[in-house]
Amino acid sequence: RDPKSRNISWHDSNITREERHHRSRHRSCALWLTGLSGSGKSTLAFRLEKELYERNIGSYVLDGDNIRHGLNRDLGFSEEDRKENIRRIGEVSKLFVDAGLFVLAAFISPNENDRSMVRELFPSGDFLEVYVKCSLEECERRDPKGLYLKARAGTIPNFTGVSAQYDVPRTPDIIVDTEMMSVEEAVGFLLEQLELRQYLT
Ligand code: PPS
Repeated sequence: RDPKSRNISWHDSNITREERHHRSRHRSCALWLTGLSGSGKSTLAFRLEKELYERNIGSYVLDGDNIRHGLNRDLGFSEEDRKENIRRIGEVSKLFVDAGLFVLAAFISPNENDRSMVRELFPSGDFLEVYVKCSLEECERRDPKGLYLKARAGTIPNFTGVSAQYDVPRTPDIIVDTEMMSVEEAVGFLLEQLELRQYLT
């Protein structure tokens, strides 16, 4: 979409990414957690944030429910609104990564095209798509907020997995299966994956 504002110009910072990384002693990236409601995205993102904090790695969680209380309070769950939700978070994540942080973005982000749009905002290596894998049956069994019950009763329209589509990631960078692993194991696995890819050094 074309920006509505015209006659605008880009100003570069006097501080480079490398200088920021050198100062903070760690690199930055966006870890994009996608998955069904109840799959464990927020739990993993907040647990990982704490683990990174303990390692003196600057990190911050952007979480669907939270962001929809503020920045994206004007957006609902139509396909168009979800697209705009993901677009804005993609741009915010990019700013955070530029500022030298580890972004842990926890959004259902059900649409493959929307996720690709976000990936394209980043140089390769600055963005990792993490599929938080959990079957619909298990998410419904967990139903931590009672939303599936409401969705089945027809009181929540466009509910992902029930009355709105979720595109299973075809080429995620990392798959974390929360049906097969405990929270501890899943957090450990993600840290291991980041270490292997040399994000934590
Ligand atoms: S999206 O699809 O990426 O734009 O959604 P997101 O911003 O992550 O917000 C998902 C949370 O909103 C609550 N909620 C719904 N989810 C899915 N479909 C519908 N219709 C819906 N209505 C409200 C729900 O608490 C989601 O949180 P999580 O953490 O995923 O369970």
